[in-house]
Amino acid sequence: MSPLRVLVTGGGRGIGRAIALRFAREGARVVVAARTSTELDEVVAAIGAAGGQGLAAQMNVRDRGSVEAAVWRCNQFTGEALDVVVNNAGVFDVAPVTEVDDETWERNMEVNLRGAWYVTTEVLDALSEGERPHVFNMASIAAREGFAHTTAYCASKYGLRGFSDALREELSEQGIRVSTVYPGPTDTTIFDGVPGDWDRSAMNAPEDVAEVIWDAYNAGEGIDVADLDVPPPA
Ligand SMILES: NC(=O)c1ccc[n+]([C@@H]2O[C@H](COP(=O)([O-])OP(=O)(O)OC[C@H]3O[C@@H](n4cnc5c(N)ncnc54)[C@H](OP(=O)(O)O)[C@@H]3O)[C@@H](O)[C@H]2O)c1
Repeated sequence: MSPLRVLVTGGGRGIGRAIALRFAREGARVVVAARTSTELDEVVAAIGAAGGQGLAAQMNVRDRGSVEAAVWRCNQFTGEALDVVVNNAGVFDVAPVTEVDDETWERNMEVNLRGAWYVTTEVLDALSEGERPHVFNMASIAAREGFAHTTAYCASKYGLRGFSDALREELSEQGIRVSTVYPGPTDTTIFDGVPGDWDRSAMNAPEDVAEVIWDAYNAGEGIDVADLDVPPPA
């Protein structure tokens, strides 16, 4: 079987890194995209060690031109075809609504929501050439329920959920599956420096989210993979 071709945004650390390595273990060609090249280079080395082939593609999902350039490099690497795209890049800001400034609001909207639209539209041609093509949009439990002091984050993730639901309807005729992923709290650097009392020992591991995505990609056609919840361990 030819290797799977995978693009993971926000693949430099945390959940995106774990997803990249999960597919690498199956021998996939994995493109990891984010802004920090040192982190991407580390993940590419880990992908190789896990049995896959990796490419680091620097990408700022807030900038259409940057996304376009990274997808061009991705296409060179994967032969203009993609089987799996994971819209995972994200930011998390915590503040009372009266203290959310315009830059914070825009950052959440542009990274968590608009970035997924940019990436998806740039990869559709490659996805249409893919084997069982599948888009995963990394929402959050905060796309199902509102939490105090996360108005910008929740608004962006509810928006991503709407984007994902509409995209699923639109792409189903082309045989492209679309899943929305709703992780509960997961122990990554996203919590570093965030105000609040976070018990990181009670959180999911990034690998838990990666496993859910791997299983959903491999689920048979009759299995409903539209909404993928990843609650924290009991
Ligand atoms: N951890 C949780 O509890 C949790 C729960 C539910 C959902 N999620 C979602 O899961 C996703 C991954 O989160 P994580 O916990 O793994 O966070 P993380 O460890 O902070 O990783 C976030 C990733 O997104 C990338 N990123 C941020 N801004 C970007 C930009 N403008 N352009 C391109 N890449 C960008 C980061 O790379 P650079 O900074 O180098 O660009 C990094 O690779 C996010 O969408 C998050 O909302 C997380």
